[in-house]
Amino acid sequence: MGEYKIAVLPGDGIGPEVTNEAIKILKVIAQRFFHNFEFTKGLIGAEAIFETGNPFPDETAELCKQTDAILFGAIGHPAFDNNPTATVRPEQGLLKMRKELGLFANVRPVKAYSNLLASSPLKPGIIKGADLVFFRELTSGIYFGKKERSADGNDATDVCTYSKEEISRITHLAFESAMQRRRKVTLVDKANVMETSRLWREVVAEISKQYPLVELNFLYVDNAAMQLMINPRQFDVILTDNLFGDILSDEASVITGSLGMLPSASIGKKVSLYEPIHGSFPGGASKNIANPYGAILSAAMMLEYSFGLTVESALIVKAVEDAIKDGFVTQDLDSKEYYSTSTIGTKVASLISEEVFELL
Ligand code: IPM
Ligand code: MN
Repeated sequence: MGEYKIAVLPGDGIGPEVTNEAIKILKVIAQRFFHNFEFTKGLIGAEAIFETGNPFPDETAELCKQTDAILFGAIGHPAFDNNPTATVRPEQGLLKMRKELGLFANVRPVKAYSNLLASSPLKPGIIKGADLVFFRELTSGIYFGKKERSADGNDATDVCTYSKEEISRITHLAFESAMQRRRKVTLVDKANVMETSRLWREVVAEISKQYPLVELNFLYVDNAAMQLMINPRQFDVILTDNLFGDILSDEASVITGSLGMLPSASIGKKVSLYEPIHGSFPGGASKNIANPYGAILSAAMMLEYSFGLTVESALIVKAVEDAIKDGFVTQDLDSKEYYSTSTIGTKVASLISEEVFELL
């Protein structure tokens, strides 16, 4: 029995719909286990720009600093896409939030669910059993380096910088995770070209000595992109920088069958944030068609990582797997037989509240 404050930032597009389903699930968990989750909503992204002119208003920042965990939906709006002249953009809200809250490690698990093998364009024989997790550095690198345009506008610069400290803190998390998994860390970089990558190799190799049971491998990012498609089972923990992690985790979502399935945790120094890795999918907004599993599984990660509620978290994962087994999927996974966003949330909720699970 516990009391937990959860800041909810639904954001744009399908963000509010998938977040609602995650809240639905958290409410049945609260009921079944006698917890008290207190939800407080905050503005972020395009929604926040329209209402306040700021994609990450001070009020939202304050809310995030005083909560036990953050549940986040998605950001992005067509009014700002393909408009390079927009000076305020929804994405700035996300980046500002990551930086201000110090959300330095983005954890993105990727799994091939046995009942979704046919939903992936990859061959079942290749993806079956794949189970890996990305540790993507989230508050540094090229995302946050100096950005410049020359006076005549003809040259542009993005600087990529990493410090030993920034590499070190996420590396420890990656190795600790590997210890609980299959004890293998693959550092993905471009050390044949980039100086920051060479620093990553140096720091990671040094830290790996503290984890003698964990096997460490190095892989260039171009090769890693291919290996993920031809032999994803070789990976356990993939440790990488901000940009490579962004790209490779979208690519790896193909293994699961849909980007909509993937949850994530952004681990901070004080508070952590949980969000599906998909974007705001404006074309699907308000249609009750979005895949809520990524958001629901993000809520499960919140229970485990931020609150230490491992049984509750495992119960959500089990209910999701059972719902999928029963064919409860959205149209991104099955274009013929599919269910709505809210029907899926309700199905998972009823499995959680009604079924007797072995793990209890
Ligand atoms: C993600 C997103 C963001 C990123 C965008 C929206 C800035 O793609 O969370 O992966 O690139 O980090
Ligand atoms: Mn991305």
